Amino acid sequence: ENTFEIAVIGGDGIGPEVVAEARKVLDAALAPESAEFTYIEYSLGAEHWLTTGETLTEETLQALRGHDAILFGAVGADPLDTRVPSGIIERELLLGLRFNLDHCVNLRPTRSYPGVVSPLRGVDEEHPIDFVVVREGTEGPYAGNGGLLRRGTDAEIATEVSVNTAYGVRRVVEDAFTRAQARDKHLTLVHKNNVLTYSGDLWTRTTTAVAKSFPDVRWDYMHVDAATIHMVNNPQRFDVIVTDNLFGDILTDLAPAISGGIGLAASASINTAGTAPSMFEPVHGSAPDIAGKAIADPTAAVLSAALMLDHLGLGEAAARVEAAVLAQLSQWAQDGTSGLSTSQRGDAFVARLSS
Ligand code: NAD
Ligand code: IPM
Ligand code: MN
Repeated sequence: ENTFEIAVIGGDGIGPEVVAEARKVLDAALAPESAEFTYIEYSLGAEHWLTTGETLTEETLQALRGHDAILFGAVGADPLDTRVPSGIIERELLLGLRFNLDHCVNLRPTRSYPGVVSPLRGVDEEHPIDFVVVREGTEGPYAGNGGLLRRGTDAEIATEVSVNTAYGVRRVVEDAFTRAQARDKHLTLVHKNNVLTYSGDLWTRTTTAVAKSFPDVRWDYMHVDAATIHMVNNPQRFDVIVTDNLFGDILTDLAPAISGGIGLAASASINTAGTAPSMFEPVHGSAPDIAGKAIADPTAAVLSAALMLDHLGLGEAAARVEAAVLAQLSQWAQDGTSGLSTSQRGDAFVARLSS
């Protein structure tokens, strides 16, 4: 009776390769549960656009709304592929999904894993990294509010207006405080309120106001440029970071670079109101440089699937996946991973779960 319908969007490049492994792991994780998943595959992305001219139709969007969650790989063409205009897939499909399905919280956890060596001095098993970035997902400079005047002339003007609403900021700040309360009770607002006067003011005032309902959470403020220094010099100081869409995008490529690498970075694009399905996707892209070689690391997709299990109320299955990944990463740290294919890695996680 506990069945879930999962939409699967493999996408382009390594997207379908890593999603296939995530599905294997999900099936193994669910074996001891009474829950069952059915998967509905959607062909979307740059390849789909090249053959159909469609990015995301109203019909597809409606169909996706009917599912319990979306498991997403990655989309986007090789930047050198001149057949695909830059940004069309990203904006119309990926951001189209996040915006239309109201994925206001883009949750991106970062942690050290036993055996996975950080490139930073001072980060080790006694001093691990463990923080989450709560990135706003539907507003900011991503809102697409801007334009080009006098295009192609010497007097050209390009604007990109950052949109920040009281409603939009408040809901992510509340979500971030709630997460902080359940963790180490420390929240850092990252912005640039010394320059971005208006939006910075809204974010700072909202955080100050919401903080009153979370008296046991300590909070501080950091400019985004300084945050990059602290993330490299003392990443252990962070517990929960709340920030806008663009700052969050940049910080969440830096975050895995200092902990375990982009191949381990998971994310969830969450509709906190439950009015549409949330989406679970690795932070990385379609990686055209390694696509088709069967060498992509599926761990980020697997950990994103664990976030999906947790979101669907299958916390025990999620914990089993995380434990299997942890144990296997530590095993690989001893054995080495050179020569392991994408599916061999997926199989190793499955074997852990089934043992
Ligand atoms: P990318 O994340 O695809 O790749 C960056 C680097 O990381 C590459 O060297 C790649 O080989 C490596 N890498 C990424 N994932 C890996 C994995 N699982 N295992 C091993 N190595 C991995 O970023 P990019 O090169 O800037 O973008 C490529 C395309 O992906 C572009 O079209 C871009 O717009 C798109 N993109 C999509 C998403 C998404 O769908 N969520 C996210 C980022 C970029
Ligand atoms: C990410 C990606 C996307 C973003 C792009 C591909 C639109 O970089 O998920 O981090 O900027 O959000
Ligand atoms: Mn990004």
